[in-house]
Order: sequence, then structure tokens, then C-alpha cells
Amino acid sequence: MDIETGRILSSSNSCRGTPREAAWEITKSNPHTSLQVLDDHDGPSPEEESSLMEINVQSLLKEIDAKNGVAQFDLEISFEFRNLTYTVPNTRRTLFCALPKFANCARPGDSSSTSRHVKLPASPSVTLLQNLSGKARDGEILAVMGPSGSGKSTLIDALAQRISREKLSGSITLNGQEVDGHQLRNISAYVMQDDLLFPMLTVQETLTFSASVRLPACHTKAAKRARVSTLLRQLGLEKVADTIIGDEGCRGISGGERRRVSIGVDIVHGPLLLFLDEPTSGLDSSSAYMVVKTMKHIADMGSIVIMSVHQPSDRILGLIQNLMFLANGQMIYMGHPKDLTDYFTKFNHGYPIPSAHGNAAEFALDLIQVLNCMPGGIKPLVDRFKSIRASAHGHSSSATTGDQRRPCDLSTSSKAVLHPAIPTGISGAIAASIAKGRLMSTSGYVEHCNDSATLILKFANSRWHEIGVLIWRCIANIRRTPELFYTRLGTVIGSGLLLSTIFWQLDHSPKGLQERLGFFAFAMSFTYYSCVDTLPIFLQERFIFMRETSHNAYRKSSYVLANAIVYIPFLGVLSLAFAVTTFWGVGLSGGVHGFLFFFLIIWASFWSGNSFATFLSAIIPNVILGYTVVVAVLAYFLLLSGFFRSRDRIPDYWLWFHYMSLIKYPYEAVVRNELMNSSLASDNAAAACYETAGEIFSATPLSLLLSQPKIVTVLEYLRQNYMSGTAYQNLNTSTCMIDGAAVLQNQSITQLGKWSCLGITVAFGALYRLLFYVALIISAKNSRR
Ligand SMILES: Nc1ncnc2c1ncn2[C@@H]1O[C@H](COP(=O)(O)OP(=O)(O)OP(=O)(O)O)[C@@H](O)[C@H]1O
Ligand SMILES: [Mg+2]
Repeated sequence: MDIETGRILSSSNSCRGTPREAAWEITKSNPHTSLQVLDDHDGPSPEEESSLMEINVQSLLKEIDAKNGVAQFDLEISFEFRNLTYTVPNTRRTLFCALPKFANCARPGDSSSTSRHVKLPASPSVTLLQNLSGKARDGEILAVMGPSGSGKSTLIDALAQRISREKLSGSITLNGQEVDGHQLRNISAYVMQDDLLFPMLTVQETLTFSASVRLPACHTKAAKRARVSTLLRQLGLEKVADTIIGDEGCRGISGGERRRVSIGVDIVHGPLLLFLDEPTSGLDSSSAYMVVKTMKHIADMGSIVIMSVHQPSDRILGLIQNLMFLANGQMIYMGHPKDLTDYFTKFNHGYPIPSAHGNAAEFALDLIQVLNCMPGGIKPLVDRFKSIRASAHGHSSSATTGDQRRPCDLSTSSKAVLHPAIPTGISGAIAASIAKGRLMSTSGYVEHCNDSATLILKFANSRWHEIGVLIWRCIANIRRTPELFYTRLGTVIGSGLLLSTIFWQLDHSPKGLQERLGFFAFAMSFTYYSCVDTLPIFLQERFIFMRETSHNAYRKSSYVLANAIVYIPFLGVLSLAFAVTTFWGVGLSGGVHGFLFFFLIIWASFWSGNSFATFLSAIIPNVILGYTVVVAVLAYFLLLSGFFRSRDRIPDYWLWFHYMSLIKYPYEAVVRNELMNSSLASDNAAAACYETAGEIFSATPLSLLLSQPKIVTVLEYLRQNYMSGTAYQNLNTSTCMIDGAAVLQNQSITQLGKWSCLGITVAFGALYRLLFYVALIISAKNSRR
């Protein structure tokens, strides 16, 4: 150690594999350097201060080897669960199983009910996991095996704390300290059974996105790129780095490669704990081996890997150090896979496992199936394991070592006794993990972030960074599927041209006025209906979003904002196309100013329609249902917009819906824009009038009797006898009887100005985005029920 500067050199390097004897870099100038675990959003708020755990790292200085200046200490991590029992209410599904006809479907967690000969009691609840205990350590893979329905996924979910804690009893500890769901979320990753990835992004882009949001800002772009390159190499994905992920419709990388990309996405930040549900399912034996080998490599670097596997080959079993066998939610074996043959040979009354079964794991699976159909069920297996465990436990307690192979519970380990200053519990695990170069999402990760304090923040980056990265991904997706945008643009231009030809150069006659109002009502509702195609977009992304936010890759609010920001310019292009193709074709008033307002209100309508459809997609997770609801609601909005029945004639009990109608405001805005603009066109009196005195009989049967000279005579008579001294004392055929203001009055469009209507339309868009956010918070919890 350089005593003058107080600098202790670090030899920690996670990417290249960290030695178990980790070295720390601590600046002596700040002797109160601390590690902090923070369950927080952006920074510690007063309430959140209470959840802050501090580890005094200064004490670690005692560990310094004065000769070479490197702090040497060995800190192991253990993840332990004790007596885990998970009980859920008995649903219809399990009640069906209780019927005699279905009695051969064994109920998980009920060893007495595993035979079809046993009558199932109609229990109000069903136990899916029964009294499970075990331990996983860094550097090892804990594999969970068992037949289908034995509770593997349930156990993985329980350990990852993705199931309701009320229904789960028992303890889950990290280095001896109880760990809660929030803490676990920040230091772990969960790789789901399904590959939820954007099909149009390349492998490199997918991993780059993950690195960008999960590694904190103190990692430079180059460091993040380097991390992605390392991952590509580790996962054997270098040769497909620039290939798109693909899906059923568009061929991309293979299934095994996709699996590895899914894993890469979740391990980019070097989680302390990695949970995987059947990472090898659906893969050929060599791809499956490759995946498990990658897991072993990750474990070797200092992570704890817990995964479920279906039928591991001998090669795969060779990579696993700890195997747990489940049957009907109960444990029937826990130990090293190499001891499995011996264990089952003994159970088989000393007979060797028949060669037809291949390996001991397969034999165990077959044995469970056979026992399930026998009167006693799997009880003998469960009992045997319990008695072996009890005797092993008695033996180990008398030896007081806990674990003969590797004492790793720091709260009781001899190391902790020797060096009480070393952080223990969760803090100790986190400290050890960072020292090993894992948990790169912490701001104190020594490789790139030279902070004196180590913060495990709920989110690795600022909101603006997240928004930027999410926008980048969204644009990359849109660029890969330009046909979607061009199709929509084509539809808008086509509809605009169609409307123009139908409503070509509307005149200012009373009929022209009706047609003009009809055009506005149709045009505004068209903008909303054309937003319906937004509905399936979020429905497709929904599960990716849930996966990403379940482990705090980014804030939900960042997703909502990025999503809105990306759409706004695209909607602007659509609005411009629609405004250009209709405004002059239909012959609307107001010149450039009128056009600009017309364009703005269409843009605002697209925005609020888009927000409305996006909101519905969050609350209705089904495309067909979503379309049905959105089309119906938009029809009601149009019906009560004020076009079919003016506000003053709508029944009072429907007025609330009139004010909620999204179409009302843009409709009133365009009508006002048109009618007031034409009224202002004083240089063109004809344009300002929608009905002259000469036209007052035009929509009546009298128009058949009264020719133009007769109308002149009638008007002459009226003027001479009744109009003197009134505003109509000069009454003639060209006198305006209904101008724009009169139409507005007639239509009851009197309460709001056009700019207010524009503002309300924009505000509705913002409101629905906010509701979308609330719906995401409520509905997008990535936990099983
Ligand atoms: N909420 C629930 N209510 C009732 N039963 C449930 C519930 N969730 C899971 N189960 C049942 O619990 C059992 C274990 O399910 P789990 O998904 O954990 O099995 P698994 O071992 O992962 O199976 P597979 O290998 O097929 O994926 C199954 O029989 C399942 O039907
Ligand atoms: Mg499963």
C-alpha cells in the first residue's frame, strides 16, 4: 500500500473472472467509506432513509496485508431457505382433480393424495410447496429437478419472491439475514421460461439496450460496449451478433441462441443471484449443455445460480454441484448429483439402477411416476429423505460445523468471529459480490465507478437516460418495420384524398353548411378511429415490459414518457398528410392561419386518440376485446359530440358523457376555426354567409312555388312593410340571414374558444397517458397469483 496517498491497489476484475480472494480499492482519504443498500427510486427520501443499511468498510482496512498493500479477505455468499411452504386457495382446477374421475391427477404437496386409489378430501386450499429447505452458494449451481407439476417453477418463483408472501411461509435468507422482495429484486435476475424479446432487434442491439439501462451512468459508453462484447463471447453469440432475434413470421436466430440472449439480457449487470426457470427446455443436448456451461461460468464468477431443469444429460449433471429433487411439492433428494445413483440404488433395495433408465435422474423421474400410481404414493421417498436429513442434521449439530464442506453462513462462520468488523448478512453478501466484480449496477462497482460510497439503487440510471435509451429502442424497432408506418400513412393520405373528392370545394349554401359540419364530424372521428391500430402494439410489448420492469431495468414512468415522445412526431407527419389532402380540397376557410390551426387540432386528436387506445391496451389485455371496447366507446363519443344532437338538446342525464367525449372538443375547434374564419373574411362577404335571404325558402316546399323574381317581390314587400328601422331595412336576396356566429349559436358551440378546445384535447391525451401509467402500476406486477 502506498501509505502516503493511502491508495490500496485493486486486482478485482469481474469481466475476466474474479479470484475468490477479492481485493478492494479503498481511498484512505475517506476513512468512513461505506457501502449502502438502498431501496429507493431516485435517492434517499426521509422515509426511505430508514431502509438504508450501512456497512462500515473502514473496518476492512484491518484486513490489509501491510506488505503488498492489497486487502485480502474471503467472503462467501450463501442463499438459504428454510421450511418453505406455499399454500393457495383450492381453485376450480384443483376441485376437478378431487372428483373421482380425475383422481389420478395427483395434487401437489399432498403425499397422501398421490394415488388414484386415495379419495381426495375437498380441502379449501392446496399446498404446492411443503416444508422445503436448502442452501445455495456462490460458485455453485443449485438445480431443481422433478416431474412436470412437481413444483419446480413454483419453488423458483418463491425463491425469487415473485409470489405473494402472505401465502408463503418459511424464511429466505442471504448470508443468514432475512431478505425481502425489494432487496432481492435489486440484486437478482429472473430468466423466464419464455423468451420475451423484440423480434426485430439484433442480438447486439438487445444486449446493448440491457447494458444501457442496467449499468449505471458511471460506466462509460465504451465500458458498456465492452461488457456487451464480453457477454457475446461468454454466451457464444458473437457470430450472430448482427442477426435479428426473429419470430414465427420472420426467421432470425435459433431457439438455443434466443435462450442465451434471454439469459444475457438478465445477467448483463452481474446479478448476485440468478434464477432461471428451465433454461434448457426445448434445446438440443449440445445447446442445453452450452447454456448450463454458461451458467456455471457465471456461478464461478461469484453469482449464485438457481435453476430448474427437466432432463439433464450426464454432461449437464457434471456441471451441477447441488441437485434438489422435488415430487408433488416435497423434497425427495438434495445433494451432489454424483451421489444420486447411490441414493436411489439404496432405495431400490440395493439393486442397481436398471441400465434402461440411462441415468439416475431419469430413474428417479420414472420411480416417482410409478409410486404416484401406488397406494402409498411417494411417501416412502419423502420419508426416506426426511430420515436421512434428520440423521445428517443430528450429526452436523454434534460436530457444530453446520456444513462440513464449506462453512458459508457468515453470521456463524469462524471468519466472522475472527473479524467481527467484516460486513455480514445481506450487506456482507453485497460487499462480497461487488468485490468479486459482480453487481455492476451499483454505483460503487470498482471497475468503472470510483465512488467512495456504494449505492445499490433501485434504478441504475437517471430517468432521462432511461427515456433516451427507450426512445432509441423504439425507433430501432420502427425502422425495422417501416411498412407499418407507411401503411398507416398511406391509409391517412388515401382517406384524405377520398374525403376531398367527396366533399370537393363545398359551397356556402345551407346544404354546403350541413356537408361542412358532416365533413368535420367524420374527419375528427376518423383521426380517433385510425388510432385503434395502437392497441395491439402495447399488448405485444406487455410481457417484455413486465419482464424488464420486474427487476427494475427502468422506471415505468420512463416507458410511458418515451412511448409518448416517440409517437408525437410520427403523429405529426400523419396529421400534416391528412390536413394537406383535405384542407384545400374541401375548400376550408382561413388561409394559412386556418390551415395551421386545422393541422394542430388534427395532431392533437391523433395524440389523444393514441393515448386513449394505449390506455385501453393496458387495462384490456386482449386484442379482440380491446377492439370491441375501443370501437364502441368511440362511437358513443361521436354520438354525443354535439354533431348529431346539439348540447342544448342532449338529455341532462347524458350531458356528462358529452363533456367526456374526446370527439366533442376537436369537432367544436374545427367548426369554430371554419365559421369564425369565414366570418372574419370581410373582403369576401359570400364566404362569411351560410344562408342569404334569397335562400330562406330553398329547403322548403315553397321553393317549388317561388321562383327567384317572386322571392325578390316577397322580400320587397317585407322590407317596405315590416323592416323599416330594423337591421334588415335594406333586405334583399343577398342579405345574410345565417352567418358563422349564428351557426355556432344554433349548434350550441358557445362555451369554449377554439384554442381552449385545442388545449383540452391535448390535456385529454396527457390524462390518458397518466391513466396508462397508473394502469401499468396496478396491473403490470410481474408476480404470479
Ligand atoms: N395458483 C395455483 N393454484 C392451484 N394450483 C397451482 C397454482 N399454481 C400452480 N399450481 C399447480 O402446482 C403444481 C406445480 O406447478 P409448477 O408450475 O411449479 O410445476 P413444474 O414442476 O414447474 O412443472 P413443469 O415441469 O411442467 O413446468 C402444478 O400441478 C400446478 O398445476
Ligand atoms: Mg415449470
